[in-house]
Amino acid sequence: MADVGVDETLLKGIAERVAGEAAELVREAWTGMNAGREVRVDTKSADTDVVTAVDHESERLVRARLAELRPDDAVLGEEGGGIAGDGVTWVVDPIDGTVNFLYGLPWFAVSVAAQVGGVSVAGAVVEPVSGRRWTAARGQGAFLDGRPLAVNAPSRLDLTLVGTGFAYKVERRTKQARFVAELATRVRDVRRNGAASLDLCAVAAGWLDAYVEHGLGHWDWAAGALIAAEAGAQVSLPGEDAELGPDATFAVAPSIAAPLRQALLDSGVGGI
Ligand code: IPD
Ligand code: CA
Ligand code: CA
Repeated sequence: MADVGVDETLLKGIAERVAGEAAELVREAWTGMNAGREVRVDTKSADTDVVTAVDHESERLVRARLAELRPDDAVLGEEGGGIAGDGVTWVVDPIDGTVNFLYGLPWFAVSVAAQVGGVSVAGAVVEPVSGRRWTAARGQGAFLDGRPLAVNAPSRLDLTLVGTGFAYKVERRTKQARFVAELATRVRDVRRNGAASLDLCAVAAGWLDAYVEHGLGHWDWAAGALIAAEAGAQVSLPGEDAELGPDATFAVAPSIAAPLRQALLDSGVGGI
């Protein structure tokens, strides 16, 4: 890989600006849809795995803006594909939480991250409906609308609130549901909010104590995992903790990391 000089602050600003512009497009479309405007919906890996015309429009806007602002960088987007480059690669989820978007639930976001060598160095997750902006740059902390974020410090496993998510494929989901049924008997409660990027931001804000999910795409975690880590979470990404499963993403408040990890293993997380 080429030696890339990186200005994380600059990249964070661009991520926030571009995600914010796409979020505005998504917000207008969502408002129109809720007022009865038709939105084209297709399916992907399963009948439950949906993509709307708005996902495509949002990604097109992000790509067009990045082409103007950062013409030499690579872009990897959920809908348009792409491959990582030698320098900065932008990793884009044009709507994370598309099922929520489609049902009128306001919990979805545009996620844009800058990565170098597969490592996130800056990112932004912007929520179209609330307007909340979650941002982070490597070594500079994480912020919600400019306010610094810090994870919780839970001390009891049975009082730990854990977020998770399910894959679209039924075979995988069956195993995930078994694991969650077991986990739910050992922790305060389990949340399935429907947008991985925002689950990771929720850990950063202390709205969740931990989050675990198997099978995320690169675009699901690229910005949110940096935001969680910069707020003090212990984070393992797909490929980093084989015992939790080869494609597990785990973000947790450090005070409860060891007992929760053990509880996940005891609940059968490795077999998912
Ligand atoms: C999905 C959401 C969901 C998670 C899935 C993701 P999408 O992203 O983040 O919460 O459980 O694994 O694929 O399809 O809405 O962009
Ligand atoms: Ca996603
Ligand atoms: Ca998406």
